[in-house]
Amino acid sequence: MKEETNRAEHIPVLAKTLVEQINLPMDAVMVDATIGHGGHSFLFASKLSEKGVIVGMDVDDDAFPEAREVLKEVKCSVILVHSNFSQITEQLHAQGIEKVDFILADLGICSAQISSEKFGLSFQTNMPLDMRIDKRLKLDAADIVNSYDEKRLADLIYKYGEDRASRRIARFIVSHRKENKITTTEQLADIICRALGKSGKRSRIHPATRTFQALRIAVNSELENLEKLLDSAPKLLNKDGLIAIISFHSLEDRIVKYDFRQKKTDGIYDILTKKPLIASLEEVQENHRARSAKLRIAKKR
Ligand SMILES: C[S@@+](CC[C@H](N)C(=O)[O-])C[C@H]1O[C@@H](n2cnc3c(N)ncnc32)[C@H](O)[C@@H]1O
Repeated sequence: MKEETNRAEHIPVLAKTLVEQINLPMDAVMVDATIGHGGHSFLFASKLSEKGVIVGMDVDDDAFPEAREVLKEVKCSVILVHSNFSQITEQLHAQGIEKVDFILADLGICSAQISSEKFGLSFQTNMPLDMRIDKRLKLDAADIVNSYDEKRLADLIYKYGEDRASRRIARFIVSHRKENKITTTEQLADIICRALGKSGKRSRIHPATRTFQALRIAVNSELENLEKLLDSAPKLLNKDGLIAIISFHSLEDRIVKYDFRQKKTDGIYDILTKKPLIASLEEVQENHRARSAKLRIAKKR
């Protein structure tokens, strides 16, 4: 029931900003690399003619029925592809598409996925510790916390969670798992809370936030997939084609920023957003997820 409510409440972040910034021809071919429930796609699809095409990709095909429902009345063609966006080139070629006018990615996960038991992502609700968004992946978060040695765990929490207490957290995880295998999100969150003690209680965010982020990034190879998408984009974009990436933490934003900068130096892109665009106060009040969203846009020369 909770999941249904969240699905209905999902609001695409930076919707107004995107619509102001991105003007597509009516017969545009666009890729929504993270279609989710189709909120962003709808903003653009509703402006396209019968000649326009939207290719929507997602690693979680449970999102597709809702995306189809949201897009059922648009005039353009809608093609839904169950795939990681790291495979964007192969997937477009398989559809007979060589070039596109717009690539959009709204990175990360949506609120329905956080609250769903299927993904095992939440430290607020007890669920099996999993974190694979794509169920075809082999290694899950429980495998990592129960098998990595202490140093490797600490390095992972530091690198992907930017948590300065990474060594202490890793030590607590390793000591706990000698007694009991860690299989649930609640167990892991409790271990982290114990590791951080009073300093965790004083923190603005839940003590487990950073470690959970680190594990999710590692399990789903999020940064590597983003790099592959960014590497593939120039060959796929038409001249004047646009790429827009919405990121939610500094690790992702840094990758996008340096990729666009390098491609500007190489004469491939013009950067349309000198600084990343962020949500207005009103939007953040309406949609909590927008508080950390950063949008960067580049145009193919
Ligand atoms: C924030 S939601 C997107 C919401 C969507 N923009 C909307 O308006 O409904 C992110 C989506 O991207 C998907 N996703 C995350 N990483 C992905 C990847 N590497 N390839 C394809 N889909 C991915 C998730 O499964 C999730 O459905």
